[in-house]
Amino acid sequence: MDEKRQELIQAAVEARKWAYAPYSSYFVGAAVLADSGEIYDGVNVENAAYPTSICAERVAIFKAASQGERNFIAIAVVTENGGTPCGSCRQVMAEFGNDLEVLIADDQGQLLQETTLAELLPGAFGPGDLPAKK
Ligand code: THU
Repeated sequence: MDEKRQELIQAAVEARKWAYAPYSSYFVGAAVLADSGEIYDGVNVENAAYPTSICAERVAIFKAASQGERNFIAIAVVTENGGTPCGSCRQVMAEFGNDLEVLIADDQGQLLQETTLAELLPGAFGPGDLPAKK
């Protein structure tokens, strides 16, 4: 594990304290490393209208994308028990490439699983599946 990946996990651990999860009490922190070298963090933000809630991974990716980032190297996801990204988050990740490294860690920053988006979402539907624009 190189230093940047360790830093990524640490950013997710630290972000997790801001998770807003009054309904599930499942606190998630995420941090994505863009090819610019920047790290963007995110947390889950729940809502009284439950389906309106959003996951930590998507917050991190949307933050990065809204700052102009389009290429991502790795994402760290931190929970108390090493949960893996949900299907919706996997699909959002797939928009930006299947080689993304996914680092799953616990709330102490202990790396529990190192995988890739291609492993988590085989056969993903992505931008390449749409017909070319005329
Ligand atoms: N959650 C995430 O933030 N990321 C995941 O990968 C799985 C689930 C959130 C959504 C909801 O706020 C809470 O965890 C319980 O599902």
